[in-house]
Amino acid sequence: DWTMAAFKEQAIEEIRAKVGSGRVICGLSGGVDSSVAAVLIHEAIGDQLTCIFVDHGLLRMNEAEEVVAMFRDHYNIPLVHVEAQDLFIDALEGELDPEVKRKTIGRLFIETFEAEAKKLGGADFLAQGTLYPDVIESVSFTGGPSVTIKSHHNVGGLPERMNMKLVEPLRELFKDEVRVLGRELGLPEQFVGRQPFPGPGLAIRCPGGITRAKLEILRQADAIYLDEIRKAGLYDTIWQAFAVLLPVQTVGVMGDGRTYEFVCALRAVTSVDGMTADFYPFDMTFLGNTATRIINEVKGINRVVYDVTSKPPGTIEWE
Ligand code: XMP
Repeated sequence: DWTMAAFKEQAIEEIRAKVGSGRVICGLSGGVDSSVAAVLIHEAIGDQLTCIFVDHGLLRMNEAEEVVAMFRDHYNIPLVHVEAQDLFIDALEGELDPEVKRKTIGRLFIETFEAEAKKLGGADFLAQGTLYPDVIESVSFTGGPSVTIKSHHNVGGLPERMNMKLVEPLRELFKDEVRVLGRELGLPEQFVGRQPFPGPGLAIRCPGGITRAKLEILRQADAIYLDEIRKAGLYDTIWQAFAVLLPVQTVGVMGDGRTYEFVCALRAVTSVDGMTADFYPFDMTFLGNTATRIINEVKGINRVVYDVTSKPPGTIEWE
């Protein structure tokens, strides 16, 4: 794509001009935006960039390993992998309120990130994968009605706290353009095409209080669901698909025995920007086969339901 090739060259020039010989820190989440920002900045200034990946223990199956392998081993980008799983899970265990969960994760994330940045001796710039819709949204939020549906997890406030200037090379781009830029930078298709994943991760897909055991059950069910979606060739059509582990146990029968295990809800939506969404109309055979696999393969789940709520009135995530 010639336009994106030109954008890339210009963005690299601008990053070099802005940063000079300064040091840059970038928080990696495993998502497309921060990944593309990091690779672009690395092309511009090489090892003046260090990435910090805070592993909060709320990621999907194998996700942390994939992020570390890709950035540290494949791209040779200096990467600090912060194993903060216990810190986050201990703080969240027993918490039922979705907003408290979100705020706890946001606060711990900032504290952890800040402490790691200090260990690195600080930096002059903080890099973020802010997109154009994020810029617009924060502007309209200031002037608009002050109804908080959900506290969003980001590193807002960090740059001021740490006295860093911002580098946001994706500020003029929309999500689909970020994907084109990612391809231009040589990021693997399977990474560039990733569905969005929320900062608070699996914590907001485990309503009613998380435990390590529940997170593990959820991870397994989610991996099977996504595997079936990929095999059916639907991954790119769907904006987001994920499993939710409900805090409800129901009675079932397996072989000759009674079971009493958790209910898993499956969610899949189509959307352009995440602001509105329609539930995805799977055929019943797909849903039935997926449910059978989850119940057979995941110990702890004996019933699967499908969420047919669009947004509005439902949000995409359950919390
Ligand atoms: P909702 O649930 O509000 O989600 O309909 C809309 C989109 O935003 C994602 N989401 C988040 N992304 N931090 C993020 O980076 C968050 O705290 C967060 N909460 C929701 C959600 O996955 C969907 O794509």
